[in-house]
Amino acid sequence: MRHLMSPLDLSVDELDELLNLANDIEKHPEKYAHACDGKKLATCFYEPSTRTRLSFEAAMLNLGGSVLGFASADSSSAAKGESVSDTIRIISCYADICAMRHPKEGAPLVASQKSRIPVINAGDGGHQHPTQTLTDLLTIRSLKGRLDNMTIGLCGDLKFGRTVHSLINALIRYPGIRFVLISPEELKIPSYIREDVLKAKQIPFTEVERLEDAIPELDVLYMTRVQKERFFNEEDYVRLKDFYILTREKLSLAKEDMLVLHPLPRVNEISVEVDDDPRAVYFKQAQYGVYVRMALILTLLGISVE
Ligand code: NCD
Repeated sequence: MRHLMSPLDLSVDELDELLNLANDIEKHPEKYAHACDGKKLATCFYEPSTRTRLSFEAAMLNLGGSVLGFASADSSSAAKGESVSDTIRIISCYADICAMRHPKEGAPLVASQKSRIPVINAGDGGHQHPTQTLTDLLTIRSLKGRLDNMTIGLCGDLKFGRTVHSLINALIRYPGIRFVLISPEELKIPSYIREDVLKAKQIPFTEVERLEDAIPELDVLYMTRVQKERFFNEEDYVRLKDFYILTREKLSLAKEDMLVLHPLPRVNEISVEVDDDPRAVYFKQAQYGVYVRMALILTLLGISVE
């Protein structure tokens, strides 16, 4: 039985296969409409979500399966003090696969150790968000035709943004990847990623504060929201929340074929006037999230469709 805790749980070849499957699902959805007949997905969300939870549910429904679950800790027995280890033992009796989001780093991993069904980390605190990374990789590969030889700008809350941490881990396995890390001093990438991942693997990167300085050289600009819920005080959040706003004017400095991605939700960091620019692909990205989650459910359940 396999779980997905980090994008590194899939080898580059497995990842390639998964993205190919997602592309086939996009082209021929009817082929997959009954692939999960009789199967159940549990979504156990201890933290707010719109896209991740609903795209998992849509993915399972598109495959002919059913869904059950809870959308907040308050509406589950966590509110009575139940541990994730006990909860997953119970969920294992009710469902075939589980997607779990939790504010504590490592909670889905703890659950997976007691689980009888595959567990997918749907975001654990400020740590990892592997299915967002699968979504991001599918978006980039589908629209750019490759995942190698690119300059990727990661902008915003690089400290608490789990999507950024997972994406860096996944992209460094491709040749010719360079990062431009764009953040204010207070929200710089954690040192365990700078030192143990980027420097240790000799991945070229620069750290800058001004988006305008970085934008002209980028092939992909990955914007992120300042993660309000992970701040210790409101004052710091208020000071930093509008640090970056991608406007039409700033976008005019970018290459014609640069892609703008964002895991969403957007707060202020991308002005709505940018939405109509063909380079803005964040809503398309959310659609890719459904295909890739369909592919992931099939892969973890070991179901293949001829
Ligand atoms: C992200 C998350 O939950 O980390 N959202 C998502 O799943 N698409 C990004 C965020 O909340 O800022």
